[in-house]
Amino acid sequence: MTLWETYYTPTSVEETLQLLAESGPRARPIAGGTDLLLELERGVRQAPVLIDISRVPGLDGIVMDGETLRLGPLVTHNRLVASATVRERAFPLAQAAWSIGAPAIRNRATLGGNLITASPANDTIPPLVALGATLVLRSARGERQVPIREFYKGVRQVDLAPDEMLTEIRVPVLAPSERGVFLKLSLRQALAVSVVNAAVVVRLERGVVTRARVALGSVAPTVIRACEAEGVLVGGPLTEERIAEAADLAARAAVPIDDIRAGAEYRREMVRVLVRRALAALAEGRERTSFPDHPPLLWGRSDGRFPRLAGRTVRHTVGEDEPIECTVNGENHVVRGANGKTLLRMLREDLGLTGTKEGCGEGECGACTIWLDGIAVLSCLVPAPRAHGAQIVTVEGLGRGENLHPLQQAFIQEGAVQCGYCTPGFVMSGAKLLEELPSPSREQILHAIAGNLCRCTGYYKIVRAIERAATGV
Ligand SMILES: Cc1cc2nc3c(=O)[nH]c(=O)nc-3n(C[C@H](O)[C@H](O)[C@H](O)COP(=O)(O)OP(=O)(O)OC[C@H]3O[C@@H](n4cnc5c(N)ncnc54)[C@H](O)[C@@H]3O)c2cc1C
Ligand code: FES
Ligand code: FES
Repeated sequence: MTLWETYYTPTSVEETLQLLAESGPRARPIAGGTDLLLELERGVRQAPVLIDISRVPGLDGIVMDGETLRLGPLVTHNRLVASATVRERAFPLAQAAWSIGAPAIRNRATLGGNLITASPANDTIPPLVALGATLVLRSARGERQVPIREFYKGVRQVDLAPDEMLTEIRVPVLAPSERGVFLKLSLRQALAVSVVNAAVVVRLERGVVTRARVALGSVAPTVIRACEAEGVLVGGPLTEERIAEAADLAARAAVPIDDIRAGAEYRREMVRVLVRRALAALAEGRERTSFPDHPPLLWGRSDGRFPRLAGRTVRHTVGEDEPIECTVNGENHVVRGANGKTLLRMLREDLGLTGTKEGCGEGECGACTIWLDGIAVLSCLVPAPRAHGAQIVTVEGLGRGENLHPLQQAFIQEGAVQCGYCTPGFVMSGAKLLEELPSPSREQILHAIAGNLCRCTGYYKIVRAIERAATGV
């Protein structure tokens, strides 16, 4: 069974809109694919026609326009994390992006995809609700702008027609008198969906709150504003009593459900805790203290943007003969018969490169980590046709025989391998980290390998191997 029938790679917004108009509800845009591929695999969505927008020019900008930050929908979470402008002027959004998945997920997963998937737990929605963002939607019929609060209609339901695409997110930035923060409670530090999240933005003039926005995620069918909590904050300073009252009112605004991650009562109580902590951090001006100065991105020396594809729309049809032409480990390849596969399967089944492993097939283990145009990504979440025109490096291309990469040698010297199943993924993440940060701290190493799971070694030896490769001893 294949997950799609036809895979288009358009090279302009106009071509994309034309394809959406022609294909109707059978088609979906695909950006990073980190949500859509899993939905297709789990059968919760059918989309025989995929339109890959990830290389369409003009959709990945981060641009200040007066007091508005204009973000393209293809901006990845890691680019939000890395952007000085986003950190300076839309800090809660940078925090939310940093909390998503792990580095290789953040390198492909886009802001636009996160907003359109519309899970109430998706982390970038609350900061954009608190900041008061507007979404720009385009189709061949024209353009419209929708305030983000009006865009969400229910669990995973948005005000978007099948022929429309999101082309821009306009964010009013924090004024000098405003401060904002995003907090997330999850069951572990990486690769974890929010049990509850909250974004709070306040305007403080001479110590008095003159405007407040409190947005809550994962506690209702859509992200909600806690309007009564906002109301009690306005008109006075951020004292302990006022913070406690606002936190109580925010908890009352929540209408959570019991699910596998938490019970409703626990979630409601955690809303109180998060909102109190968020407001206390803003009152004391310490909301930025835990944000890393040099977060590992695993995009090496690149700027995290994938190169464009030249020419006009390319089509790959399952069962037909259009080749996927790409460079793998420095060799040109023309692959036929892989149009309906993931890149992981193409590498293993069609090119015989079995060093890249499948652990989970859904982005949770990192065993399939490769470099796509110099950026670490998870090949189980990349459709094979996305590799057309791209440069790929797998663990086989890193070093072999007498010419091992220093990190491969360090893994041997430290004995950082037991069954070895996870090792190619760790090596690909670790080598990319060392290219980017040649002398990483222990904390940076832990962040870099947060998306790589090992069932055997207990991580100590793996971390030591990365440290050894960095110091060259
Ligand atoms: C292991 C793992 C961990 C994760 N952890 C988190 C987490 O901690 N927090 C979190 O919030 N999310 C998390 N996610 C979810 C996911 O990574 C994000 O939702 C991601 O941002 C989606 O973006 P994408 O580019 O991959 O979207 P895609 O999967 O390509 O698309 C998602 C949806 O949006 C539509 N779409 C995409 N772009 C456009 C556009 N421009 N116009 C119209 N429609 C569009 C697609 O048709 C599809 O319906 C995780 C995912 C995985 C696999
Ligand atoms: S993350 Fe790709 S196989 Fe587990
Ligand atoms: S060495 Fe066995 S899973 Fe890591």
